Amino acid sequence: MSKAIRIHAHGGPEVLTYEDSDPGQPGAGQILIRHTAIGLNFIDVYHRSGLYPPPGGFPLIPGGEAAGVVLAVGAGVGGLQPGHRIAYAVNVGAYSEKRVIAADRVVKVPDGISDEQAGAMMLKGMTAEYLLRRTHKVKAGDTILYHAAAGGVGLILGQWAKHLGATVIGTASSVDKVELAKAHGFDHVINYKEQDFVAGVAAITGGKKCDVVYDSVGNDTFPASLDCLRPLGMFVSFGQSSGPIPPFSMSLLAQKGSLYATRPTLFVYNAKREDLVASAQALFDVVLSGAVEIKINQRYALKDAAQAQSDLEGRKTTGTTILIP
Ligand SMILES: NC(=O)c1ccc[n+]([C@@H]2O[C@H](COP(=O)([O-])OP(=O)(O)OC[C@H]3O[C@@H](n4cnc5c(N)ncnc54)[C@H](OP(=O)(O)O)[C@@H]3O)[C@@H](O)[C@H]2O)c1
Repeated sequence: MSKAIRIHAHGGPEVLTYEDSDPGQPGAGQILIRHTAIGLNFIDVYHRSGLYPPPGGFPLIPGGEAAGVVLAVGAGVGGLQPGHRIAYAVNVGAYSEKRVIAADRVVKVPDGISDEQAGAMMLKGMTAEYLLRRTHKVKAGDTILYHAAAGGVGLILGQWAKHLGATVIGTASSVDKVELAKAHGFDHVINYKEQDFVAGVAAITGGKKCDVVYDSVGNDTFPASLDCLRPLGMFVSFGQSSGPIPPFSMSLLAQKGSLYATRPTLFVYNAKREDLVASAQALFDVVLSGAVEIKINQRYALKDAAQAQSDLEGRKTTGTTILIP
């Protein structure tokens, strides 16, 4: 019998239980895979806590990112065979030794990228890809602000934004995190526990402020993030690690400088197979070229997923984290 982390009701990390779980056999268009490395993401916390409803109800196997090996293919699946190394980013189901998944949601992992790297980077890295290349097309000379710069998405996005030629400003909550972010593409990092980040951004930019703010912290950084934008700048709210932002009036965007605001998700940006493939390829390219380095900063056994989530929520992790089945 295969093992998985399942939850039967919303709650704290203690609701993550390590149980027997039959992955089943692949149907038409599906593949059965054995996971080799599973990525840890903040969205897993939202599914556990109930901030996001459980897709498919309970019991729920959380987890949106992993790498693995194909064990069997269902009818009508082309291009994949047992033994192929694959990776993916989806909504749930990754906290498991084995799973069945739609073949059109996975991509083959190229030589030169390890299973651990692929398992750690698909969701975070393709998020960095669409944020930088599609939500706002970052170009040389742009100035961007990214909160929680030393986090999983942050260390990837910082390197990629630097590679695109932007001036990259970040925030982080400790001296060590500030230094780590500076080693991963961020030109300036503000310790937002110690310093007002709006004043910090104004000082760094000589009052010109930023073309785009990527805000996944949410409640604690809103509405101050809007004050870091130049007129007609783009506010990208793509997460809420400190809690959701409160409802606000559209007229606030007018008052703050005719701003744009969007609330994007990876799953909409990569819903079409062609977009998923292009997004994954762009990520593989920057990693294989050396422009973006993927280091694994924390490793836990799959059965210890509760500890891993507790550390992520407790702001104890940096960069990417994997669970080993
Ligand atoms: N919309 C999308 O498509 C999409 C896709 C992927 C991820 N996301 C979002 O992107 C964000 C980053 O995801 P991640 O998995 O890479 O996580 P992460 O950045 O590694 O962890 C979250 C970070 O947020 C900061 N933070 C600020 N206030 C916090 C609080 N009250 N509690 C916990 N953390 C707090 C912490 O950094 P400091 O200690 O430095 O403040 C923490 O390390 C999450 O909000 C996630 O939901 C969105």
